[in-house]
Amino acid sequence: MASHLRGCALVPPEVKVKFQRKPRESTADVVMGTISSISAPPPPPPPSSAPSVPSIPAWTLSIPDRERLIQFAIEAKEGSYSPYSKFRVGAALLAADGSIIKGANIENASYGGTICAERTALVKAASEGTRSFVALAVTTDVAQPLSPCGICRQVIREFCALRMPILLVPAGYTIEKGGIMETTVEGLLPHSFGPEDLELPRTG
Ligand code: THU
Repeated sequence: MASHLRGCALVPPEVKVKFQRKPRESTADVVMGTISSISAPPPPPPPSSAPSVPSIPAWTLSIPDRERLIQFAIEAKEGSYSPYSKFRVGAALLAADGSIIKGANIENASYGGTICAERTALVKAASEGTRSFVALAVTTDVAQPLSPCGICRQVIREFCALRMPILLVPAGYTIEKGGIMETTVEGLLPHSFGPEDLELPRTG
């Protein structure tokens, strides 16, 4: 396994943040690649004859780590350069060493040159040698949680464990109001292609 991937597939031993198993009663479970808002009621249990629905368990953060990461994502949005779309996005990555790397969307007059907030954060971190992460938070100016685009999902997949939590934070978030949508890398990008697939034996 490439060295930059070590510590990504599992919670790295050196992480300072506290992880707790997500309690089963959490309404933030990811089910079959879809995400449910934390304000949504839990789904009813399946009838006993139905096959059980596989869920993707995520590790969860302590409340202080979670709130700190969210505040960094909100701050990161201030760095947005979005004169064309006027759509600000902020992202914050919690690294295994406890550091937080911020990113904002950076647009370009040649629109295809735009870099999303999530990729800004990942590229900033990776190019400085930080390649092991334990959580990502993303926020916009929209009062509902919005999801990373397809390209960002694949770039997140490169560096982050499938079960890593991703917090999608609505504008105006407060801990009292809540409304965060919580998912995982695998929840956003099921059946994904990743670096380990390049290690598989080939017939040709
Ligand atoms: N954007 C992001 O920063 N992240 C995403 O995942 C989706 C879109 C940005 C790109 C562009 O600057 C603006 O939002 C509108 O698409």
